[in-house]
Amino acid sequence: MRERLEELLKDARAEIEKSGVKDSLLTVKSKYLGRKGALQGFFKDLGSLAADERKRAGELINTVKNSLESEIETRLSAIHAAEMARRLKTEKLDVTLPGRSRPLGSIHPVTQTLYEVEEIFTSLGFGIAEGPEVEVDYYNFEALNIPRDHPARDMQDTFYINKEVLLRTHTSPVQIRVMEEQPPPLRIIAPGTVYRRDSDVTHTPMFHQVEGFMVDTNITFSNLKGVLTHFLHSLFGENIEVRFRPSFFPFTEPSAEVDIRCVICKGKSSACRVCKGSGWLEVLGSGMIHPEVFRSVKYDPEKVSGFAFGIGIERIAMLKYGIDDIRLFFENDVRFLAQY
Ligand code: FA5
Ligand code: MG
Repeated sequence: MRERLEELLKDARAEIEKSGVKDSLLTVKSKYLGRKGALQGFFKDLGSLAADERKRAGELINTVKNSLESEIETRLSAIHAAEMARRLKTEKLDVTLPGRSRPLGSIHPVTQTLYEVEEIFTSLGFGIAEGPEVEVDYYNFEALNIPRDHPARDMQDTFYINKEVLLRTHTSPVQIRVMEEQPPPLRIIAPGTVYRRDSDVTHTPMFHQVEGFMVDTNITFSNLKGVLTHFLHSLFGENIEVRFRPSFFPFTEPSAEVDIRCVICKGKSSACRVCKGSGWLEVLGSGMIHPEVFRSVKYDPEKVSGFAFGIGIERIAMLKYGIDDIRLFFENDVRFLAQY
């Protein structure tokens, strides 16, 4: 047995020596030391030996096993070390290379404009309120003095969910919701998303309005004009040309719409597609709150008065940034958005 073991040790050593990579070394290991390996055969043969021989033979097999194990271990570390040395030599890290920068997002131009508008009004002492985008007929129309079958319902093409429920067509329902909850005096703006069946270079089916209203005793049209003029001057500078144009809304009387000089053609092109040759772009509707509106929120129209307005945020953003198609805001083309 001793001779056969010596033979085995010699063969194994030769194979260990030859193994240049980890995988082949592991094959050698299992061939000699594995559960079905060569040494295991020797352990099995022990059973057929006499008791005193068995002890010596057992010790011998164990010695061979131990030395093979440690030689394989040594060879394995040598292979690891060689591999590491090779990688250190070939794989270089150039710490002077410039880093990869992460692309930075920016705030959408409509949101930027919304923030600016909010800032101007909050610094005048206006508070901020919000209302639901899915609204009921009562708040969007009825309470605003627009009964069913009133022709003014045609002014805003509505997305209906069912006969009673709709996507709000303007932020004016927030006036009603706030006045139902709070007594005058009030100074509130209500920013939010509104929806209409509308689409061209100055209209999108979803857009943003900022509603505003101020209710107290003795509020007059000159307060309305003063606040809105201050607002437009803060936003566009003192030199902007502004026009208050008489208009009609069922929930205000008298009413005015406000136009700003078209920044695209400066009022000089009869073919301008933004102002349609008129030289002006409408940015908001406004007026003195109608007595019927006060009655529907249980305010006494003999005692209080107020003004209200609704600003189109995308229109303001178009004028501010000189954008000639409102739909660009919603295409989410990064090349467009990255400019703002
Ligand atoms: C209203 O929505 C009224 N609720 C405004 C108001 C409030 C009047 C309080 C009086 C008192 P109008 O439909 O004109 O009014 O819309 C207001 C503004 O929203 C317009 O001046 C315009 O700037 C903008 N706007 C209207 N339709 C669209 C649209 N489809 N896309 C983008 N902006 C729009
Ligand atoms: Mg209008």
